[in-house]
Amino acid sequence: MKVFHLSAECYPVAKVGGLADVVGALPKYQNQMGLQAAVCMPYYERKFVQENEFEVVFEASSLLGTQRFYFEILKEKTNILGFELFLVKIPGLLDRENVYSYPDETEQFIAYQIAFLDWINWSQQSPDLIHCHDHHSGLVPFLLEHSRLYHRLAQTPTILTIHNGQYHGAFSWAKLGLLPEIDLSKTGLLDWNGGINPLASAVKCCWKYTTVSPTYLEELTYQSNGLEYLFYLERAKGTGIINGIDTDIWNPKTDTMIPENFAIRTLAAGKQKNKAALCEKFNLSPDKPLISFIGRLVVEKGADLLPAAIRGSILAHPGGVNFVILGAGDVKTQDALLALHAEFPEQCNVFIGYDEVLAHLVYAGSDFLLMPSRVEPCGLNQLYALRYGTVPIVRTTGGLKDTVIDFGDEGGYGIRFVQASVADILHAVGRAVSLYETTPHLQLLRKRMMALDFSWDRSAKEYVNLYESLKPII
Ligand code: ADP
Ligand code: GLC
Repeated sequence: MKVFHLSAECYPVAKVGGLADVVGALPKYQNQMGLQAAVCMPYYERKFVQENEFEVVFEASSLLGTQRFYFEILKEKTNILGFELFLVKIPGLLDRENVYSYPDETEQFIAYQIAFLDWINWSQQSPDLIHCHDHHSGLVPFLLEHSRLYHRLAQTPTILTIHNGQYHGAFSWAKLGLLPEIDLSKTGLLDWNGGINPLASAVKCCWKYTTVSPTYLEELTYQSNGLEYLFYLERAKGTGIINGIDTDIWNPKTDTMIPENFAIRTLAAGKQKNKAALCEKFNLSPDKPLISFIGRLVVEKGADLLPAAIRGSILAHPGGVNFVILGAGDVKTQDALLALHAEFPEQCNVFIGYDEVLAHLVYAGSDFLLMPSRVEPCGLNQLYALRYGTVPIVRTTGGLKDTVIDFGDEGGYGIRFVQASVADILHAVGRAVSLYETTPHLQLLRKRMMALDFSWDRSAKEYVNLYESLKPII
């Protein structure tokens, strides 16, 4: 079975968040299961592209509205990632450094989708399935069925995986002309709320959609930035499949990015050494419970709550709890966190920026990982934390709800709280501090969480079962 994954991100080619981790791992595991899974993504001028060898496997020109554009499809030569990687390069449009936030993002992603479809169409490829991730490839299911140009491929099954239902990629009907020739009687399938909405269109036109956790599937019907009714209507087409983690990269036994490797057997000493290295880096005492946060400093992640919650926790446990923050995002939150570090230099330290290697050390060296997310479709941070024996403190939402059991419940290992509020975080931190003081209990929980299996083996299989289930329809 030949499958194309279409995504804006893929680790280690270009990563902004968890989407990259998933698209960098799932196809690899699918190939190990006997599929032929490939990734086709936009070209970004980044380290991975500069350090690896690519060949041009296709070149042509196409139309974006009235504008002709030239594109190349580049293939990474050695399949170093465990799958075929194709990049769509379009001079002046898809040859930049950053993944998102350009003013012509709409044009960028439409051109990416057109180039992909033209390539497989003109080179006479017939994939068994096209797997779209988020809104960036959300027009593909519509175009396959309702553009005369791609008639040959109209029966190709499509799957949409929703990693983040907050972003839709919506744009005005005034830009309809950017799309290739389509059946104008079908434009309703592009529309949501008076605009062209690629995520909504994908939900309507894909054969099946998935969300990255079962709870998120339900949450989208009442919290999806305006698409609630659509998700309610299309609910029967959806399935929740929890993400896995790439254990080739996230494994405390073999991780080359941490100072001390460890396994369940060597857990206590291993954690201690990593904690010592992390605390030294951040000028914190290694003898106090250490609670960390890693992630985008945005409202979705509850990052705006962090300054008050950390301040309150430090005041509630004077000299009794330390914090490390690794992230970047809203300037107001960044500034408030830096001010907190200035106020409590011995209890709170902050790294504003993105640092993959440092993230590994934070997972390995922290005692607790705080995730006060307002929205968390799956969340990978808590899965990495579990793998590294770090107790997740999570808000009970989305994938966090599906993957973390409170240590007060049978078989539990984490700390959960209900509201995205400073008060609830303070209470959860209080429980963490008490837990830290009962070392044998904490060690037991750490062993329990490290033994959990969140590898891709299980989830990759669920995707394949879903693909297979489309066969009778074909
Ligand atoms: P999201 O994709 O919504 O940001 P996830 O939990 O799915 O959330 O994935 C976040 C990924 O990005 C994880 O791999 C996490 O380690 C990584 N990450 C987030 N912020 C940073 C940062 N500042 N430095 C390094 N890694 C980061
Ligand atoms: C999104 C979500 C996150 C999820 C990731 C990978 O970025 O915000 O919860 O883990 O996608 O699916």
